[in-house]
Amino acid sequence: MSDYRILCGNALELAPAMPPGEAALAYLDPPFFSGRRRRNQAGGPAYDDRWPGGMVEYLSFLRGLLNAVHPLLKPNGVLALHLDWRAAHHGRLELERLFGPDAFVNEIIWSYRTGGVSRRSLGRKHDNIHVFAAGPQYTFHRLREKSYLAHRYGFQNIEIHEDEDGPYTLSAMRDVWELPALRGNQKEYAGYPTQKPLALLSRLIECFTNPGDLVVDPCCGSGTTLVAAVRLGRRGLGFDSSAEAVELACRRLSENAS
Ligand SMILES: C[S@@+](CC[C@H](N)C(=O)[O-])C[C@H]1O[C@@H](n2cnc3c(N)ncnc32)[C@H](O)[C@@H]1O
Repeated sequence: MSDYRILCGNALELAPAMPPGEAALAYLDPPFFSGRRRRNQAGGPAYDDRWPGGMVEYLSFLRGLLNAVHPLLKPNGVLALHLDWRAAHHGRLELERLFGPDAFVNEIIWSYRTGGVSRRSLGRKHDNIHVFAAGPQYTFHRLREKSYLAHRYGFQNIEIHEDEDGPYTLSAMRDVWELPALRGNQKEYAGYPTQKPLALLSRLIECFTNPGDLVVDPCCGSGTTLVAAVRLGRRGLGFDSSAEAVELACRRLSENAS
């Protein structure tokens, strides 16, 4: 039986009304300070990422969001803040202020290959996910990834596997995650702007939570985190200020997670 809850409203007001100290993982994927009005697949407005007051206004929002969500964490809970080159550096400083510098766990780089490259810089094709823990005994499952070999000869005491791309070993997962961004023709694409792939959220949840744990997403958008959480046997709590997002998330959850 799926266990999730999705509420429509401002996370800065909803989070303080929730019972504190219960979440194993809070994943925050807020607006990125893109300066754009984000539109859905049909061209309608989905959410606003424009900040007339500039970075000062944005950081005041981000600080308020972090302050509101932090108390929801269990004593050893983990918070993952997803941003990109525009504000990730500010986000990390905010997290250090809130958790203390020793609470840093990882900066995960999500690397992808979407179209559109500036003529005046290298392609900016990664996001940053800062992971901080509220206590030293946080849950961590060491995931493994394929490490391809040039050939399969001359190795001893190493288990070598093989697939269509060649021989590989399984090694401890690194903090650079090469995962495709969602494309419009993919089955899981729900038409929400800046929708994240289920593979990304599944990895985070598997890494930092146990079955039965509560996963909170205060800016849940189309509900990706909650779908991944429920599929993996975790509980989910999501908020979003956009009624359209909440409706979409509820639909995805009822189709995917029952
Ligand atoms: C980057 S999108 C999240 C996308 C989501 N991870 C997904 O996979 O669909 C950011 C979301 O934050 C929401 N949002 C912005 N300000 C908010 C606030 N104060 N409280 C709750 N949600 C907010 C927006 O409506 C938007 O859906």
